[in-house]
Amino acid sequence: MVTHPEIPRHIAIIMDGNGRWAKERGLPRLEGHRVGAESVQEVLEASIQLGVEYLTLYAFSSENWRRPATEVSALMGLLNRFLENKAKELDRQNVRLIAIGQVDRLPEKTRVLIERIEARTANHTTLTLVLALSYGGREEIVEAARSLASDAAAGNISASDIDAELFASRLQTSGIPDPDLLIRTSGEMRVSNFLLWQISYAEIVIVKKYWPDFRHGDLLDSVEEYKRRHRRFGSL
Ligand code: IPE
Ligand code: IPE
Ligand code: MG
Repeated sequence: MVTHPEIPRHIAIIMDGNGRWAKERGLPRLEGHRVGAESVQEVLEASIQLGVEYLTLYAFSSENWRRPATEVSALMGLLNRFLENKAKELDRQNVRLIAIGQVDRLPEKTRVLIERIEARTANHTTLTLVLALSYGGREEIVEAARSLASDAAAGNISASDIDAELFASRLQTSGIPDPDLLIRTSGEMRVSNFLLWQISYAEIVIVKKYWPDFRHGDLLDSVEEYKRRHRRFGSL
C-alpha cells in the first residue's frame, strides 16, 4: 500500500553551505556559521508550528575535526553561545534537547552546557531537538555492534537474538522514530556519514540554498515537497 505522507514526525537536516555562503559575500567562514545559527532558530520554530515531533540537526560531524583548529574552535564557541542563549527559550518552548555523537570529544564547557540543558528539558514534550555533535553514522553503528558483542561474550544474549530491533535499541537514537524527511542544503547530494542506519526509508529533499539562507518558508516548502512523495516501503 502506498502511504501518502502528512506532516513528517521526524525531520533530519544536514545543514551545509555556511562557508560558501560567507565566501560569496567576501566574509570569513565564521560569519556563515553565525548567520546559520539564525536559520536553526527559524527552522526550530517552523517545526514546532507544523507539529513535527523530532528535529535532528547535523551540527558537527566526526570528520569535521579535520578542519583547521581555528575553525573548530570558532564552531565550538558558536555552539557554546547557542546553548547558553537558547537554554531558557528551549525550556519556555517546552522543547527537549538531546545530543548524539561522540560528546566526550567535545570541550568540557560544551559538555557541561549540554548536560545541564538535557537535564532541564528532559520532560518536555512539544518537540525533541536532537543535536548531532561530533557525530558519525559509522561510529554509532560500530559502537552498537561492540555493545552487542560484549553482551554476547558475557552470555547475556546469543547471536541469534540480534535482529534489527535489538540493533536499533543500541544506537544513540534508541526510542526515536526514524527520520521521515532528510533535508540537505547547498545542493550537495551525499549523506556525509549522517544517520546511516536510520535514513533507510527517509524521503530525501536536496535544497540548493546555502544553510544561512534556509529559513522558515524553506522548511515549509520542503515539507510540501515531502507531502507530494509516495512512500512505498518496498511494497506496491
Ligand atoms: C556546514 O557548513 C557547517 C558545518 C559542517 C559545521 P560548512 O562549513 O560545511 O560550509 P561549506 O560546505 O564549506 O560551504
Ligand atoms: C556535513 O557537512 C556535516 C555537517 C553539516 C555538520 P560537510 O560539509 O562536513 O560534508 P562534506 O565534507 O561536504 O561531505
Ligand atoms: Mg560543507
